[in-house]
Amino acid sequence: MLKTHHCGSLRQEHVGQQVTVAGWVHNWRDQGGLVFLDLRDRSGVLQVAIDREKQPEAHALATQARSEWVLQIVGTVVRRPAGMENPNIATGEVELHASAVSVLNRAKTPPFYINRDDRVEESLRLRYRYLDLRRERMQRNLILRHRVIKFIRDFLDAEGFLEIETPILFKTTPEGARDYLVPSRVHPGKFYALPQSPQQLKQLLMVAGYERYFQIARCFRDEDQRGDRQPEFTQLDMEMSFVEREDVLQLIERMMIEIVETLTDRQLLAKPFPRLTYQEVMERFGSDKPDLRYDLAAIDVSEIATQSDFAVFKDAVTAGNPVKAIRVPGAGNQSGGQLRKFHSAYEERVRAVGGKGLGYLVLPAEAGGEVKGSVAKFFSPELQALLFEATQAQPGDVLFLLAEARPVIYGMIDVLRRSLAEEFNLADPNTMAFCWTLDFPLMEWNPDENRWDPSHHLFTAPVPEDEHLLDSAPGQVRGQQYDLVCNGYEVAGGSIRIHRQELQEKIFGLIGLDMVDAKERFGHMLEAFTYGAPPHGGIAPGIDRLVMLLAGEPNIREVIAFPKSQMAIDLMVSAPSEVYPEQLEELSIQLALADEAEPE
Ligand code: AMO
Repeated sequence: MLKTHHCGSLRQEHVGQQVTVAGWVHNWRDQGGLVFLDLRDRSGVLQVAIDREKQPEAHALATQARSEWVLQIVGTVVRRPAGMENPNIATGEVELHASAVSVLNRAKTPPFYINRDDRVEESLRLRYRYLDLRRERMQRNLILRHRVIKFIRDFLDAEGFLEIETPILFKTTPEGARDYLVPSRVHPGKFYALPQSPQQLKQLLMVAGYERYFQIARCFRDEDQRGDRQPEFTQLDMEMSFVEREDVLQLIERMMIEIVETLTDRQLLAKPFPRLTYQEVMERFGSDKPDLRYDLAAIDVSEIATQSDFAVFKDAVTAGNPVKAIRVPGAGNQSGGQLRKFHSAYEERVRAVGGKGLGYLVLPAEAGGEVKGSVAKFFSPELQALLFEATQAQPGDVLFLLAEARPVIYGMIDVLRRSLAEEFNLADPNTMAFCWTLDFPLMEWNPDENRWDPSHHLFTAPVPEDEHLLDSAPGQVRGQQYDLVCNGYEVAGGSIRIHRQELQEKIFGLIGLDMVDAKERFGHMLEAFTYGAPPHGGIAPGIDRLVMLLAGEPNIREVIAFPKSQMAIDLMVSAPSEVYPEQLEELSIQLALADEAEPE
């Protein structure tokens, strides 16, 4: 080894020892006769002093060194003089008095500071990701990611799970996105599809009798990018045989609690995790992944609103639509002008998601004061009192009132909750609010394609009591699926699966797959089910999203070593890129690019 100790490991107990360290120049200060270097390696930073009088040769080299040069330094560990300790670094009580300095490599001036947590434009960070990854914050995130994955492996091993790899070059495994295709050279005109998840393979492993499987699995989905989505991402993919929903939920919940409590100092909002039905989360929070760190729940006030003099509300209720109220604590404590601005900013937000308007009421700060707001005049004092009781409104609160058809009203509730929480800082960054969303509908009507789509995926089993509705009322059938949600993100999704061929064929039929097509794409599944498939179910937490939440980062790119940009580009290596014409020829591929669509 070119070092005897790691920079960040030196402490009082090493005082007097001769050591060799190696790393990058984090900071340097030339004070004439004395050069101070902070030398950094993965373990941390160590202050090194190089004295011109005592070590002229080492000093001469040290004066040349600049940020990010790679040095090897031999020296003696000494206690820092009293008053010169640095409590901000772990090695702050000692320093190294250098006797020899070797330059292992020089460095150009980096395009951004490595030694500061400055905001740097993300495209620059991604272009020079290997420099960005040197920064402390990124290092902390990747170390946490490593710990989480190691924890998961140990935990599941102890629970009797086997880690089994499945192929990347595969056939379509739809999860609702487009496939990434890989052309075959050997079979011209044919393609592999990269798995959107190992869904079919893990089910086939259950048919094969492995009973408890997991994999830290890479998944590929060609879909629009967002802060919590990447074209390739990592799942903890799991499947179990002879289980019911309860078994899966309990195992995952126990694992998540242990991860949070062992690896972070974040607080869990509730243990055990609250369980909410799909219907309940949509009606109250307008989203199947609600952030429960704050309330801002929508309360149904249709009964009261229909007695008001406001035609919009009365008509809504007559048409079968709900009227809902969201209480915004303390928002009424602003001047009239500010309140109108406040209201119109939120009205604009609900309009952006299809709402026609947003009514509001302001409770006076003191008892007996006047109730104000755009819809105050339509509610008699008695009705106002009923509204305030139903919503538990307090003096100084604002009530937002919404009336719209479902599902538009859901989008309005969701956008109001998210933006109010942001404005009023209601989401404690140190809290993790997990919950389960259960009892999703099995199917969703797709008006564009005029057919039913699976709301989770093709292989999810219906709730047995609802199976008889599959023919008559598919929209009312609940699926045996579950999502784990945390702080407004879907962290995991899973289900109990279909394991009988007839039922699987029926579902294919319902979503409009004809049997020829179904056999072509999923014949292996249907066939496998005829050879004694056990009842089985599973789940897949997204590792990137989980680590993002544990690390308190705003997007998953911060916890992935080499992520793609929002445009699905690897900015460091410029991928995707053109290929040589010979390569295309070998693959029997001709590009049909219009002139303007040609890549730059
Ligand atoms: P699902 O599609 O819900 O289920 O995915 C499971 C979890 O994977 C994460 N995730 C993503 N993370 C980053 N980028 C993406 N593009 C992305 N897409 C999904 C989310 C999500 O909850 N085969 C099923 C699982 C099962 O039924 O067992 C599946 O893939 O955290």
